[in-house]
Amino acid sequence: MSEARIAIGNLGDGKLSITRSSDDGAARSAISLADPDIIRDPYSIYRELRAVSSIFRSDSLFGDAWVFMDPEDILTLLRDTDHLSSAKSRGIVDALPLEQRDQFKGLIELHSRWLNFFDPPKHTRMRKLVGRGFGAQIGERLLQAIRDLVAEMISSFENKDHVDIINDYARRVPLATVSEFLGIPKKDLPSFGRWIGDIATYMGSDQPDLETIKTAHRSLVEFEQYFREVVAERRKSPIPDDLISTLIEAEETGDVLTEDELFAQCTFLSFTGSETTKNLIGNAIYTLLQNDSQRRLLVENPTMIGRAIEEILRFECPVQFIVRIVKEPFTYKSAKLGSGEYVIMMIGAANRDPKVFTDPDVFDFAQERPKHISFGEGIHACLGQGLARKESEIAIGSFMAKFPNAELDQERGFSWRKNPGLRGLESLYVKFGR
Ligand code: HEM
Repeated sequence: MSEARIAIGNLGDGKLSITRSSDDGAARSAISLADPDIIRDPYSIYRELRAVSSIFRSDSLFGDAWVFMDPEDILTLLRDTDHLSSAKSRGIVDALPLEQRDQFKGLIELHSRWLNFFDPPKHTRMRKLVGRGFGAQIGERLLQAIRDLVAEMISSFENKDHVDIINDYARRVPLATVSEFLGIPKKDLPSFGRWIGDIATYMGSDQPDLETIKTAHRSLVEFEQYFREVVAERRKSPIPDDLISTLIEAEETGDVLTEDELFAQCTFLSFTGSETTKNLIGNAIYTLLQNDSQRRLLVENPTMIGRAIEEILRFECPVQFIVRIVKEPFTYKSAKLGSGEYVIMMIGAANRDPKVFTDPDVFDFAQERPKHISFGEGIHACLGQGLARKESEIAIGSFMAKFPNAELDQERGFSWRKNPGLRGLESLYVKFGR
């Protein structure tokens, strides 16, 4: 049988044709980052593309967009709020035929109120406000709550022969953390998990189908409705220093937030804080169990956990790309960007750039590495990075300390989530060698 190969052709004006062809020259077909072999290993296609150009335009990968892969270019563009906008909530729906877009106006509107989708000056004011909650909340009390939750989950594995680390651990730790962070009851976590999963499937997709968008829409509406009730409750009984109470106070004093924006920040923080950290914890356990010498190094030197996490963030970046929209035409190096065009910044590729990282495809946290860009850069850089780091240090460090001989369960295996933007596993079965 002939093997499928990626064919990259130069169409001029920075445009590449990226198709799949077979050795025997049989017909070419369109390529998607959600193709199973690319989901398993996106880094090979990044390498092939980089070898042709790290700045290109493609109408196959993201439905006509400019793509940037070089770390310096990405940092420059992420700081460029004069030319690039984050008001991209239409983004994914634009991939649909015109006649289908109208039914998702509500989804676009709900999304457009997320902090991440605002431009200055509104973004500046809102970020300051949301940022206040991060200062007050990420203290020893929250960290101790995470330690307790993690210890409880780990002790529930003690009599088991194997577990699915994604569903039984990586998903649960961030959900429980977010519930502590926002002060919501644990009994509501299963619904939370479902809403977040549905939104993530839509958010990280390069070209989602109709059903995926419909499901995300339904879940986002339910999620906001849930927060309407929580907020009504919290208005009656505020909790000092609590993030939701801080946001309510700002809304009540007419500071920046409307009531709808207040609900939107609650869904955004729950979503963004859970999905990415789940993927970081899952990707970390997977990578450590695949790399025995690195796993041993960590088990024997638990204080290296911080370095191990930075290397995971680089090596298996949970957010593979960041999107912006061109505000007004401008030229950046070889790219002539037109108003309204999409710009895709491939941070997952930039973190493996051989110009910056020695042996970029080797997972090695003993090596001093330059800084990765997995938390973005500029005015939208991740507000939760401190929390994500601390939370995953506790989750991964405790797991490796308790189960130093854990190994991948070859029989039950693992599978990657079909999500090119938010890289993580769907399931990962682990056996406990004792
Ligand atoms: C491993 C975990 C995480 C990763 C890899 C990650 C990654 C990112 C990235 C790349 C951005 C920038 C997006 C852009 O420029 O458009 C971002 C923004 C953001 N993240 Fe995270 N994140 C993580 C965890 C968290 C957590 C735990 C929280 C909070 C509970 C959080 C809250 C935010 C917020 C509020 C923003 C928007 C900031 C703004 O637009 O001003 N993140 N994150």
